[in-house]
Amino acid sequence: MKFFTLIVVNKMWLKDKILEFFNKKESAAIGGGQKAVEKQLAMGKMTARDRIKAILDTDSFHEYDMFVRHEARDFGMDKKELPGDGVITGTGTISGHPVCIFAQDFTVAGGSLGLAHARKITKIMDHSIKLGIPLIGINDSGGARIQEGVNSLAGYGEIFYRNTVASGVIPQISVVLGPCAGGAVYSPALTDFVFVVDKISKMFITGPEVIKTVLGEEISMEDLGGAKVQTEISGNAHFFANSELECFEQIKKLMGYIPWNNTKKAEPFPVKPPNAAYNIEAIIPPEPSKPYDIRDIIKSISDDSDFFEIQERFAANIVIGFTRMNGETVGIVGNQPLVLAGVLDVDSSDKAARFIRFCDAFNIPLITLVDLPGYLPGVDQEHNGVIRHGAKILYAYSEATVPKITIILRKAYGGGYIAMCSRHLGADFVFAWPFAEIAVMGPEGAANIIFKSEIANSTDPEATRKKKVQEYTEKFANPYVAAANGHVDAVINPAETRGYLIHALQIAVQKKEFRPAKKHGVPPF
Ligand code: HXC
Repeated sequence: MKFFTLIVVNKMWLKDKILEFFNKKESAAIGGGQKAVEKQLAMGKMTARDRIKAILDTDSFHEYDMFVRHEARDFGMDKKELPGDGVITGTGTISGHPVCIFAQDFTVAGGSLGLAHARKITKIMDHSIKLGIPLIGINDSGGARIQEGVNSLAGYGEIFYRNTVASGVIPQISVVLGPCAGGAVYSPALTDFVFVVDKISKMFITGPEVIKTVLGEEISMEDLGGAKVQTEISGNAHFFANSELECFEQIKKLMGYIPWNNTKKAEPFPVKPPNAAYNIEAIIPPEPSKPYDIRDIIKSISDDSDFFEIQERFAANIVIGFTRMNGETVGIVGNQPLVLAGVLDVDSSDKAARFIRFCDAFNIPLITLVDLPGYLPGVDQEHNGVIRHGAKILYAYSEATVPKITIILRKAYGGGYIAMCSRHLGADFVFAWPFAEIAVMGPEGAANIIFKSEIANSTDPEATRKKKVQEYTEKFANPYVAAANGHVDAVINPAETRGYLIHALQIAVQKKEFRPAKKHGVPPF
């Protein structure tokens, strides 16, 4: 009898504890309360937990540190109960692949970052680095928590430090889904890919209020740092979406192309031939100066004609992104003849260089498609540092030790020829199409300079000029001089391009390239 009573009492005790646990969990899960959640939804934004659930596989999210609380006491903070301290952290899977994830909860003190909040983030970042799995951070925050003073700044510093340690070790993805003000923008800036959503994402160091006070200028948050500004003008963000759900689909797609960490390769996909609608021979126009869309060429050689473009809206004179060849992920860098004839300039050099370094860090072979008249001339470019920025692409290609395969489609002039992964920067294979033009500059410019006096002194300068242009074209504006010198490995028929690429990738699969030991290089940042 005594024994039976003990069991009943114990069971009741257990029931109370479990009830208490559920109550605590429920009140933590409500974040900043019903009113704040309604305000979040009214702004067209999802809640932090719903965002995590929408990105991850169904029921895969496991949350940690739900009961963490801040210890701040100043400016009324002692009376503020901030559930989870305004950030949700945990692990889950995307298409079965593990990830670490955090989402700032704007309903709790505007998602502002205090010390406890930062410690939750740095803890999940440490997991991510130790476990060798990607990190996804969803940012929706008013920045450093003003009431916590230097402790908030310390928190940001600890995050930036880990972003840097993790760089090149695990893929880091930032999603900006709300304001991302002050210190909050620098963690995304240190990560590999930044996703933004129209009308929802706003990134800036100093907001409109400060700009008005200091500079007397009025500007809306949208015009200062909205999704369009960040993807089209500044280049701070890589992916633009019209809705949060569209953004999450983009993230899932990206995850399929990249490996878990720098010791692995991206997972192979079933091989599918390119779509017959993309006929490589029909895409290149017969006239050498007529533009075409380089993305059509990419689709004509890619598995299933699939191309996942990155930074589509920024520096569109160069195209970068992932595709698959024979089931394996490859990184593509191609000049875009449709925009500024595909020249290299300050922004396109920056864009390509960062992508090349990502691919090299994460074992993704690089394919470079060349068709450009060179670097963009002009005072504006010179004053904006085209020398310094242009050097980044030279550095990134020379530094990369993954398989590097280059196809010269049409024009490859001057510095542009060297910069676009020429043999001289370590390309493993360089192929050229029969109508490729490889020279120091275009025939017109070249003839005008080297035959200047001959043209001027002739009886018919225009006829002489035309003859000299023709002479130069026949001598240098073709792939055979480069092929005769071994700078080009093979001149190929455009229809053979995919076959040559797949073969080159297959035989380069074991590639190992050793360089002199050093702590690290000093790239022209
Ligand atoms: C503490 C903050 C906060 C912050 C917002 N809140 N930002 N609390 N510290 N940084 C709180 C608000 O007091 C409010 O609390 C709630 O979050 C919602 O904010 P609202 O202003 O009502 O929302 P909204 O109108 O949507 O405006 C959002 C906002 C605005 C644009 C982000 O709050 C804002 O401008 N905040 C300050 C942004 C900023 O300047 N941050 C820089 C910090 S300095 P209640 O209790 O009323 O709901 C910094 C330096 C680090 O980050 C540098 C490292 C390199």
